[in-house]
Amino acid sequence: MDIVDIKDIYEFNDYISYRFSDKDIVFGKGEYSSKIMLIGEAPGAKEVELKAPFVGQAGKYLDEFLDILGIEKKDIYITNTVKYRPTKASKKTGNAINRPPTAKEIREWRKLLIKEIGIISPEIIVTLGNTPLGAVTGNLKSKITTYHGNIINHNINGVEYTLFPLYHPAAVIYRRNLKEVYIEDLNKLKGLLDTMNKKY
Ligand code: URA
Repeated sequence: MDIVDIKDIYEFNDYISYRFSDKDIVFGKGEYSSKIMLIGEAPGAKEVELKAPFVGQAGKYLDEFLDILGIEKKDIYITNTVKYRPTKASKKTGNAINRPPTAKEIREWRKLLIKEIGIISPEIIVTLGNTPLGAVTGNLKSKITTYHGNIINHNINGVEYTLFPLYHPAAVIYRRNLKEVYIEDLNKLKGLLDTMNKKY
C-alpha cells in the first residue's frame, strides 16, 4: 500500500465536480490511507443531504456490520460506484425516488472508480452488492449471490488487489434471512484482516 497523496484525491474530486457540475456529488470519505476500501452502489437522499456515503438507513446497517469487524466507518475509506443519487419520479406522488443506476451509468463511473482505486491503493476492496462488484470486475453480469464471501485475487492495471464481495447492507433490510449469511461472510473477512499486520 502506497502513501496516498491528498493532492491526487483533490484533483480527482475536482474533476468529478467539473464533469458532473449539474449533479450533487457525494465524494468518497474516511481514512485515505486505510488498507480497506469499501464500495457501495450510489448515495440516497440522506447521503446527498449530509454529503457523506452511508449515513442513511443502509449506513445504520453497515455500522452494525462493521461493529462485528471492530471497525468504525471513519477508519476506512468508503465510496460509491455512482456518486450522485440516481432518481426517477414516483408514479404515485411524482416525487423523486431512488432507482438503481443504469448499465450506462455504471460503465461511465467504472472508469472513475478504477482511477479512485489506483489513488487509494487499498489492499482489500470490499464491494457491497451487485453494482460495485460489476464495476470493479468489469463484468456487469457478475452476481453477488455467486461471489459473496469469496476471497478473490483481482488484477487492475497490473496491480493485485484482494477483492471481497459482500451483499449490500440494504439487501438485509428486505431479506432478513440474509443476515446469517452476512455475518458468516463478515467473520470470514475478519479472519482475513487478522492475517494482515495493519489492522485497517
Ligand atoms: N447505499 C449505497 O450504496 N451507498 C450509500 O451511500 C448509501 C446507500
